[in-house]
Amino acid sequence: MQTKAQTKKEIEKLRIQIQEHSYKYYVENDPILLDEEFDILYARLVKLETEFPELITPESPTQRVGSETSQAFKQVKHLQPMLSLSNVFTFDDLVAFDKRVCDEIGVKDIEYSTEPKFDGLAVSLIYEEAIFTLAATRGDGDVGEDVTHNLKTIKSIPLKLEGKNIPKKIEVRGEVVMLTKDFELLNQKQAGLNQKLFANPRNAAAGSLRQIDSSITATRPLSFFAYSIFLFEDQHQLITHSDGLKLLSDFKIPTSDLASTTKSVDGLQNYYDEIVEIRSNLPFDIDGIVYKVNSLNHQDELGFISKAPRWATAHKFPAEEAETLVLDITVQVGRTGAITPVARLKPVIVGGVKVTNATLHNEDELKKKDVNIGDYVKVRRAGDVIPEIVRVIKEKRTGVVKIFTMPSECPVCGSILSKDEDGAVLRCLNGLFCSAQKKQGLVHFCSRKAMDIDGLGEKIVDQLMEEGIVNDFLDIYKLKKDKLIQLERFAEKSAENLIEAIRKSKNTTLGKFIYAIGIRNVGESTAFDLAKYFKSLEKIKEATLEELEAVPDIGPTVSKSINEYFNSKVKYDQLMAILDIGIVFEQIQANKKRTKELDGLTFVLTGTLPTLKREKAKSIILSSGGKVVGSVSKKTDYVVAGADAGSKLNLAEKLDVRIINELELLKLTKNIGR
Ligand code: IVH
Repeated sequence: MQTKAQTKKEIEKLRIQIQEHSYKYYVENDPILLDEEFDILYARLVKLETEFPELITPESPTQRVGSETSQAFKQVKHLQPMLSLSNVFTFDDLVAFDKRVCDEIGVKDIEYSTEPKFDGLAVSLIYEEAIFTLAATRGDGDVGEDVTHNLKTIKSIPLKLEGKNIPKKIEVRGEVVMLTKDFELLNQKQAGLNQKLFANPRNAAAGSLRQIDSSITATRPLSFFAYSIFLFEDQHQLITHSDGLKLLSDFKIPTSDLASTTKSVDGLQNYYDEIVEIRSNLPFDIDGIVYKVNSLNHQDELGFISKAPRWATAHKFPAEEAETLVLDITVQVGRTGAITPVARLKPVIVGGVKVTNATLHNEDELKKKDVNIGDYVKVRRAGDVIPEIVRVIKEKRTGVVKIFTMPSECPVCGSILSKDEDGAVLRCLNGLFCSAQKKQGLVHFCSRKAMDIDGLGEKIVDQLMEEGIVNDFLDIYKLKKDKLIQLERFAEKSAENLIEAIRKSKNTTLGKFIYAIGIRNVGESTAFDLAKYFKSLEKIKEATLEELEAVPDIGPTVSKSINEYFNSKVKYDQLMAILDIGIVFEQIQANKKRTKELDGLTFVLTGTLPTLKREKAKSIILSSGGKVVGSVSKKTDYVVAGADAGSKLNLAEKLDVRIINELELLKLTKNIGR
């Protein structure tokens, strides 16, 4: 009989062996063990852990199986925003991108890292003390959803990092994808079970990741590819992005072996051409190429513009196109009253997805494209965006097309339509008196990114409005099971589920609530910015236009809409009434444990600091809760200046931004006594 200490040793050895063999199997595609041999190791681990359950740890491979959680996904604030990428489509765009970069840095040429743009879902993984502790989706870039349980089921992601010199904390960013072969197998399985087929690997990956029950995710063959690493300590002395990719693979975190480097625009274009050539043979879908300035110092210097880095761009593949027939053109009334013409199409598959409608945006677009009922058209679909009509195939016109004209009255409420000031959008100004706008407002309120009430989609909202049961947001919270059961489409279970979903939705965040109420011009990201900045509805109501504009990314138009909304007594009273029924705003659980010295403060680094390397200074600021950006603006809190600081220092002086030196930074972050 083994002692407990001996068992513990054996367990630890088994875990390392299992991880190593999983890596060989899932990452290198080069297994050493037969499946049966692997199963024996795994079974032995399960047996020992069953005998000594107290020795089970979260990073044990046996903990990948997943389980049902009753909770919806928790919100997670990212340590640094997860950004998007600017795009280039042509060689000329690429030349312009390279020129901007070289001019800004003041060099003739610059080294780039080139890599595939995976067509999946961005996630952030956190490892603390070598253990995989947290995984979050991108969400709105600032706040994502906790998908740790689901990501743990992906066998190629190590639950524990092995090796020497592993930093206390690292953040890994990458993409969850489904390999083409796994996608095909999954769809065969779905078909066998008479279940819904997935349109493409990306949708399959997204659906799998969004399972509340991670034991379902565990049955879905997901893969992961990391494309960046962030260290919170400097011991690895990363100089380039490529060093980061190398470190990731040293940590046995899967990366793509297609990444390369080059120093010229021709080199970038050659890489693009090479990948296009092999694209259809790659094991996963990609939707472009990403070029990144390789030097991390240069990346810092270039910084960010809006929500994208200046040091990287995505060279997108042309969107897929197909030909079909316009069966009809109708108009839709949106939540804000905008009237959008929509082409009803003969169903056609574009990029693996069946397309039956395409937006024509507005009247000008309709006229410019000259689309008529009965025309043959080219339709385009790129990524997740709404399908669009590229052009009419005029050669195919038979002469029997029917011309469509925009209505002068709202097709739903009959009120006279009017043009927006800029003349582009035709709008029904009847607001909530127009049942289409009211319905869309309610559907928006219940949607996933808003109050997330599962089961209250367009059809049911329509039905509840028709029955006269739901007329505004508040009515949703007054719904009763007994009443629902009496309605068509509802049975005991579905009524119960809806009531439960409504109850659950009361636990939300201020950001989601602000987004849900549908203030004109306030999208998800602005709603989250408002919540973060003001922290309460009352404060937003009290804010002046200037105070609203002080929020990053909010300009005069948006601040005016917010102000108007909160100044409407009817609207504000309704909000308060909803809150009274017991809406609770959960504090977003940041993946940092306490508030830090520099929480919410923005820094710019410039010049050479006396002792700290730029990377080190940056990691000190970030780990104290601050943000480092590339350029100085009114919204910068501190400029940390060293020797030979140039234009950034001048601008800081002009804008009255506080300028500090290295010593003051260290004091501020409590890295040195006062
Ligand atoms: S770097 C700050 N590298 O593309 C830039 N992104 O539009 C961070 N993506 O959602 C992104 N492959 O998930 C980078 N090799 C790659 C990528 C990649 C796919 C996705 C990423 C993000 C989107 C950005």
